[in-house]
Amino acid sequence: MHHSDEIPEGFSALCSVDDLEEGKGVRLIINDEEIAVFKVKDKIYVVSNVCPHQHTTIMYKGFVEDGFLACPAHSWKFNLETGKKPDGTRGLTTYPVKIIGNKVYSKVIPKTFNW
Ligand code: FES
Repeated sequence: MHHSDEIPEGFSALCSVDDLEEGKGVRLIINDEEIAVFKVKDKIYVVSNVCPHQHTTIMYKGFVEDGFLACPAHSWKFNLETGKKPDGTRGLTTYPVKIIGNKVYSKVIPKTFNW
């Protein structure tokens, strides 16, 4: 029995862990949502690819530093884990991640636009 290997409800396969390069975002479209997948120090993060600043689909090109992802357009920074800005206010949408074997899964829920 390998209950921990079961894909949780609502999760979709995104890519293989091996597809990801340290600190380099991969852009994907899942459930009509643009997302960006990052591997940083052997942890995988899934965030929205849409920067909340000017709604630009560019976050996958962002720079990772000290646990934050900086938008390449105007350098707004978001915590990779929570999506929050350095001042703690809400920023980027983040999605839960599950690794099973060598595959990355995430639960990408279509977002209601709230900006
Ligand atoms: S569009 Fe991302 S910081 Fe301006």
